[in-house]
Amino acid sequence: MKTISVINLKGGVGKTTTAINMAALLANRWGKRVLLIDNDKQGNTSQFFGKYIKDATCGAARILEGGDPAIWVTDQGLDVINANMTLETAENELLKSNDRQDNRMKMFLQKKMQEYDFCIIDNPPAVGMCVINALCASDEVIVPVKLDNWALDGTEMITETIGQLKALNKDLKKISVLITDFIKTPESEAAEEWLRENCSAEVFKTKIRFSKKVDSATYYKQPLDGYSLMCAAAVDYRKMIKEYLGKE
Ligand SMILES: Nc1ncnc2c1ncn2[C@@H]1O[C@H](COP(=O)(O)OP(=O)(O)O)[C@@H](O)[C@H]1O
Ligand SMILES: [Mg+2]
Repeated sequence: MKTISVINLKGGVGKTTTAINMAALLANRWGKRVLLIDNDKQGNTSQFFGKYIKDATCGAARILEGGDPAIWVTDQGLDVINANMTLETAENELLKSNDRQDNRMKMFLQKKMQEYDFCIIDNPPAVGMCVINALCASDEVIVPVKLDNWALDGTEMITETIGQLKALNKDLKKISVLITDFIKTPESEAAEEWLRENCSAEVFKTKIRFSKKVDSATYYKQPLDGYSLMCAAAVDYRKMIKEYLGKE
């Protein structure tokens, strides 16, 4: 099993969209066994799959507690572990623990190695204990970025942070940046050029273009591939997965 964290310290850059669509494509187009973990207390991924349960201790919190989370089988061909606000309580409790705090997710995923080909973790836009746990459990990180100035700052910040976390997890093999929500303008093209020249991490050749269908697909709780096969973002996510798998 390969574990991929989707992460950026900035919100609204396409982390959840990327995590959901990567997971759905790997499962449905490529026949992979996929576990998708919602590691964001906002629970957007859980809501997408109809697995957001308001007050009960969520799966991501159970993982931090060192327990066994519920794994939900979805009708999208992949399994989901959910999140909600109880994840914050679990993070705070973990910080009080005298035991090792950074390897709870890793310990849990080690038990699932044989059951899945990919584990994708959708992270919140902040570095808390749940993100440190996700990073420690990950083989790779994908950083979605939107090309405005702030996002570029965020990318530098995250690359820096990940550099530090590499010290925590020597198994973190790869960090790749993915340009999302792309609209072609002179400014965005200049930003892309800057990013490709200056970013310390690898940048996917494929960029995910802006598409109006992304919001409506989320509204109807459908992965893009099922909702609007030919919209720009659906085409691009398929291409990105091919690039990722080295099947271009
Ligand atoms: N390629 C895209 N085209 C159009 N809208 C997008 C695209 N990617 C993301 N969005 C929209 O941007 C918003 C933020 O995306 P989301 O994936 O929730 O970001 P994050 O998880 O980083 O906060 C959502 O409304 C989403 O539908
Ligand atoms: Mg999100």
